[in-house]
Amino acid sequence: MILVLHGPNLNLLGTREPDVYGLQTLADINEELKKIATENDVELETFQSNSEGDLVDRIQQSIAEEVEAIIINPAAYTHYSIAIRDALAAVEVPIIEVHLSNIYQREEFRHKSVISPVVTGQIAGFGAGSYILALQQVLRLIG
Ligand code: DQA
Repeated sequence: MILVLHGPNLNLLGTREPDVYGLQTLADINEELKKIATENDVELETFQSNSEGDLVDRIQQSIAEEVEAIIINPAAYTHYSIAIRDALAAVEVPIIEVHLSNIYQREEFRHKSVISPVVTGQIAGFGAGSYILALQQVLRLIG
């Protein structure tokens, strides 16, 4: 199973700063990811939370499950959540960090990811396409 985690405020996609994050809703993105997963005979589960603790709990839970890879957009937690970083560091499967926007092109506080040092790789700047690219790479890694 591939686990896709979405952090805070990503439930507002479609209406939230569409010039930065695009017009696709989170449901649209999840549906597209599930379609690709089904075509490739893999299970894919999505989970969104605005709460840091819930995301940490879901990551911890994944260790006990048959999760083969994690795709995560930690959203604002990217820049300061040591708790999410530490939870991800405890995971042994490949982890892809995803951002819709190019965080390096934006405010300086977004340039730093405390998550990046513990993930396999990062994809940023392609809108919803960042998730698709991440899934394609995960399929190659677990294939
Ligand atoms: C984001 C970038 C973060 O800086 C921001 O806090 C988000 C979304 C992105 O996908 O571009 O909520 O992770």
